[in-house]
Amino acid sequence: MWGELKQATVLFADIVSSTEQIADLDAEQAMERLGPALALMCESIEAFGGTVVRTMGDGVMALFGVPKALEGHALLACEAALDMQQAFPGGTHGLRIRVGLHSGQVASDPRNADGRGGGAHGLTIHLASRVVSLADPGGICMSESCYGLVRSLCDARPMGSHSLKGISGQYGVYALEGLKTGSQGFHQATLTPFLGRDREIALLQQALHFTEHGKARVVDISGEPGAGKSRLCHEFAQWCRARQIPVYEVRAQPYGHATPLQPGLSLLRTFFFRIPPTDDAAAARARIAARMSELGPPAEPDLVLLYEFLGVAPAESLHAASSPKARHARLLNIVRELLKHDAATTSVILIEDLHWLDEASEEFIATLIDAASGSRTMVVLNYRPSYHLPWAQAENAQKIELGQLSDKETEHLVRTLIGPRQEFQDVCQLVVRRSGGNPFFAEELVRSLSDSGLLAEGSDLRIAGLDALERALPATVQAVIGARLDRLGEPEKTLLQMCAIIGKEIPLAVLEHMASPLASVIEKGLNGLCHAQLILPQPAVGGRRFTFRHPLIQEVAYSTQLKVRRGPLHCAVALAMEVYYRDQLDEYAGLIAYHYEAAGQLLDAASHAARAAQWVGATNSALAIKHWHKVRALLQNQPRSTASDSLRVRAGGQISVLGWREGLTLQEVQPFIDEATELAGEVDSRSIQLLLMGEGRMLQASGGPADEYVERLQKALSLMDADADPGRAATINAALSQAYAWAGMLEQALAANDIALRDMGAIDRFDREWIGFSIEHWVMGMRGRLLMRLGRLEDAAQCLQELLGRGESSNDPVILQFAHFGYIDLAWCRQNAELAHEHYAYVAEIAAKHENPYLRVFALSCRATVASIDRDFETAARTFSEALTLVRHAKVAMEFETEILASLAECHRGLGNSEQALDIAQEAIEISRQRSTRLPECRALITRASAMLDAFGSARADQAQALFAEAERLIRLTGAAIYQESLFREQSRLAVLTDLPGHTGISVGQAA
Ligand SMILES: Nc1ncnc2c1ncn2[C@@H]1O[C@H](COP(=O)(O)OP(=O)(O)O)[C@@H](O)[C@H]1O
Ligand SMILES: [Mg+2]
Repeated sequence: MWGELKQATVLFADIVSSTEQIADLDAEQAMERLGPALALMCESIEAFGGTVVRTMGDGVMALFGVPKALEGHALLACEAALDMQQAFPGGTHGLRIRVGLHSGQVASDPRNADGRGGGAHGLTIHLASRVVSLADPGGICMSESCYGLVRSLCDARPMGSHSLKGISGQYGVYALEGLKTGSQGFHQATLTPFLGRDREIALLQQALHFTEHGKARVVDISGEPGAGKSRLCHEFAQWCRARQIPVYEVRAQPYGHATPLQPGLSLLRTFFFRIPPTDDAAAARARIAARMSELGPPAEPDLVLLYEFLGVAPAESLHAASSPKARHARLLNIVRELLKHDAATTSVILIEDLHWLDEASEEFIATLIDAASGSRTMVVLNYRPSYHLPWAQAENAQKIELGQLSDKETEHLVRTLIGPRQEFQDVCQLVVRRSGGNPFFAEELVRSLSDSGLLAEGSDLRIAGLDALERALPATVQAVIGARLDRLGEPEKTLLQMCAIIGKEIPLAVLEHMASPLASVIEKGLNGLCHAQLILPQPAVGGRRFTFRHPLIQEVAYSTQLKVRRGPLHCAVALAMEVYYRDQLDEYAGLIAYHYEAAGQLLDAASHAARAAQWVGATNSALAIKHWHKVRALLQNQPRSTASDSLRVRAGGQISVLGWREGLTLQEVQPFIDEATELAGEVDSRSIQLLLMGEGRMLQASGGPADEYVERLQKALSLMDADADPGRAATINAALSQAYAWAGMLEQALAANDIALRDMGAIDRFDREWIGFSIEHWVMGMRGRLLMRLGRLEDAAQCLQELLGRGESSNDPVILQFAHFGYIDLAWCRQNAELAHEHYAYVAEIAAKHENPYLRVFALSCRATVASIDRDFETAARTFSEALTLVRHAKVAMEFETEILASLAECHRGLGNSEQALDIAQEAIEISRQRSTRLPECRALITRASAMLDAFGSARADQAQALFAEAERLIRLTGAAIYQESLFREQSRLAVLTDLPGHTGISVGQAA
């Protein structure tokens, strides 16, 4: 047996001025005087399902909801308190008692249960003992949290706010005055709109139609707690009343056996004898007699029987002579006769919550249903699926099984409750998912959110909201589900708790591993749980498995277990999963990490989180970054070891390696890089080379100079012996090829690319995992683009073709894009529209599949390039501008910014917007200079000069000439033969305009 956490109501009761009461008595007399009083208190407590945990000479402490969870624990405690008060009417010589009630979480530890409350712990108990001291003599005082649970069921008077000794904050307290009489139904004004249930309403209406024609129906409605049984009945009842058809409602109460036959009595009063609550005993007797005389002259014993039964017998009357059994039989007969007599008028009897029905009432209701057949009295019953009707289903019965609301309906409901604010979209979805279509759960989840102030104007949901909601487990929901779980026997309960630790999905093999001592009873236990509708078997693929029937069942079964117990169980799950998922460890690493974390084994958790991060890696960089941050967080306060330091180096490194995909800036990732570099210095200095690489890449992706990226890599190379470590040298050279390419130093880039390509085979797994995507693809893709810019289009085409052939096998979208991106470039060089369109289709498809800002920039520039090849400069300009906005806004793919600007300037020139072309080209030139991106600079120089000729002709020939000269110099420096042709063309135009000699006729071949 293990301790558990429960929602409970604590009751303290004591005798007022007990010291004075026994002042003149010796100890034995005192016992004789107070003892019976305490016994009476205990009787009331036990009658309503409470557990007396301690008696204290002049008082008692009791718990409702511990050790077994009790739905309606607060209401039952109120009833017990009221019942107790009735036993102590006070007066001059009588004793008087005070009662205090408080609800909240209680930890119960059955190992410590000593019968004196030693097994129950928590602030809730301390608070309750203070609440009782606020009660008036003869009064019942309840705290705000207790009141909140019974508000709609009780009459209470506010007693203001009080600070309670030893506890911070103010507590509102209320005086309990009594239970509300009459219908406990819904209050129209506070109801949410009624959703769905069209079929059910139609069925009920049809049943009424038959009833009106003398073929009365019985409708049984079954459904989980909170599914909406009462609401459905309420809506139907409203509809009937609107048509002048009277509806009589009664309901069974939890702990019905404390007040047996209550539903039957209530029906007799309201339905059969129409006695209003205001009638006194004499008036009630008169009504009973009058009604009975409708059946013929009433027999005196029948009247006595009814008077007694309904509690309105005159004080002096004699007890009816017959046996209880005979009297009961007679009573049922009277019911039959009355129903038959009323056969002409249509009415509806609604009996709620049959699952709580006491035995005596069962017979009464069975008789009622039987007698109603052939009358015009329709009976509607509702109960939970766990209840089995104790009578054979009548011929005229119809069954409604009330399922969950659809997602759409639930969403509508949640929206109504939380209001239309757009930022609540996620909250709304989360509530819909967690409530699983149960409207009561949905309402309670929203209420607990709202109680914690999260839905208030101005509260920041992004920080606390979703997380809090994920954890919020309303007390009411806990009590409803908890009571269900506590009705389970063993081994079901222990198994269910283990299932809850395992998670939403429960592979049988994992459960078996954890529950090995229960091996012989697992099968039976699981059957029991399925039968109780708590879990569901899943279609067996790769081993039998189960899921929870409702997400909240898992959460309650989980959260009611003490942390000290959960830890070791989580550890057992982690170990079992490592075995069970041994062939899919990557996929399940995140889940296993979660279990290790919950078990408090943080290093194991971190290494599995790292595995999960590595696995999602490039496919979902945002998630991977999240996992890496998790790794860091897990290790934060761990004692240092080589294993943990190395993991931290990797985590920092990976955040920087993945950062550019998600638009992180160097500034944001620098602290992680620095931390990793410092640790690497101690445990793994080789990693510093890779950290430098990551830093350089981030620097350039955040708009830093490409030349500095080159420098970082050269520094990395200087830290190693390339001959001794050719694999690592290949890795760094791959990056160097990229860095040089962005810097426009094409020959150097190609040389680095050659080295990377040559020694690729030597790159080890560590480096491959660090990079996270195929280095081969990367190197080949860059090579294609380099060759193109060098003017070697045939070689480039060949390179791309090879890349395309391999690309299919990659799952990294950026890598998949590479070949197509290259082809679009090639199409641009060749002005081949068909080729461009063909490859753009792929690019668009890949980008659409992945929500990633980097890919989006990529895709936009491709689309714009394709439009420019089509000479649709308007679309091209618009799309480039869009890409530019995204780059600047999201700070992602900033290395493309100057390229985009240069292209945009060209488009404007194509559109004849010389002025814009001039401005944008100028901007491209300036930014390119800051970032040492020489190729876009070169393009922009040519465009600016040409735009000048367009706009001003020979008037600005000198300026244009200077720009061309600068472009020429850059072509010579970079080797970018690809821009030579347009330079020639424009220079010739200038020559014609000014009548000067044409271009100087250099070519890249001579440039070196
Ligand atoms: N079809 C529905 N549309 C909107 N709200 C509903 C619907 N069904 C139930 N509810 C709300 O959900 C809550 C629980 O419903 P209730 O009828 O008390 O459940 P049950 O009687 O099955 O335990 C109530 O607040 C009710 O108003
Ligand atoms: Mg109900």
